[in-house]
Amino acid sequence: MRNERLNVVGVGGTLREGSTSLGALERALRAAGDAGAETEFLDLRGLGLPMYVPGRALDEYGESAADIGRFLEALRRADAVLISTATYHGTLAGVTKNALDFMQFLARDERPYLEGRVVGLIATAGGDQSALNAIGALTHAAHALRGVVAPVTVAVPRARRLADAEGNTTDERLGARLDQLGRLVVDLAARLGYDAETEERQLAPAAGRR
Ligand SMILES: Cc1cc2nc3c(=O)[nH]c(=O)nc-3n(C[C@H](O)[C@H](O)[C@H](O)COP(=O)(O)O)c2cc1C
Repeated sequence: MRNERLNVVGVGGTLREGSTSLGALERALRAAGDAGAETEFLDLRGLGLPMYVPGRALDEYGESAADIGRFLEALRRADAVLISTATYHGTLAGVTKNALDFMQFLARDERPYLEGRVVGLIATAGGDQSALNAIGALTHAAHALRGVVAPVTVAVPRARRLADAEGNTTDERLGARLDQLGRLVVDLAARLGYDAETEERQLAPAAGRR
C-alpha cells in the first residue's frame, strides 16, 4: 500500500466568467484538500480543450496537445474526481461532456477511464428543476466511465443567487454540502484503497494513506 496522500482532481466550470459551477467545484476541492488530499484543479475555461475528434491521435491536436495531455495525466493520477457542470437545456453543458469525451484516450490504460476512482458530482442551474437532470446525466456518464459515484451529489438550483459575481459560493448551507462532498470523496477513495502498483484493493479504511 503506498503511503502518499490521496489525489483528488476537480474538473469543471463553464466558459463564462464568474462561473457558479467553477466556484462550487473550488469549494468542494478545498474541502478535499482540508481532509488531507492532494488536489488538482482543472478549470475547463483555463484549459481550453478543443472539440474531441474520434480517432484523432493526441499529437494531431496541434497546439492543444499539451493541454489535453495535462488533463489526461491528472486523471490518471487521480484517486477521486470531482466533476462540476452547468445545466444547459435540461442536461449537462457541452463543455463538460466534451471533456468527458476526451477520457476515451484512457480506454486502453491498465486502469481504463475512471475505473476505481470515486466520482463526486455537482451541477448548477438557473432554474429550479434541471440541475437534478444534469446530475442524472453525469451519473450515467460516470458509470459508463467505470467510476464509483459518491452517494452524496450537489444539485444547485438558482445558482446565481447563491454565489457572488466571481461565482464563489456565498450560501452557507450550500457551502456546507459542498464541503461534505469534498470530504466524502476523500473518505471513499481511502476506503476503496486501490493501489495501481500492487493492484491491491481493500475495503477497510486505509489509514496509512491519509
Ligand atoms: C445555453 C444555456 C442553457 C441553459 N439551460 C438551462 C436549463 O435548461 N435549465 C436551467 O435551470 N438553467 C439553464 N441555464 C442556466 C444555467 O444553468 C445557469 O446560468 C448556470 O449557473 C450556469 O453555470 P455557470 O454559472 O457555471 O456558467 C442555461 C444557460 C445557458 C447559457
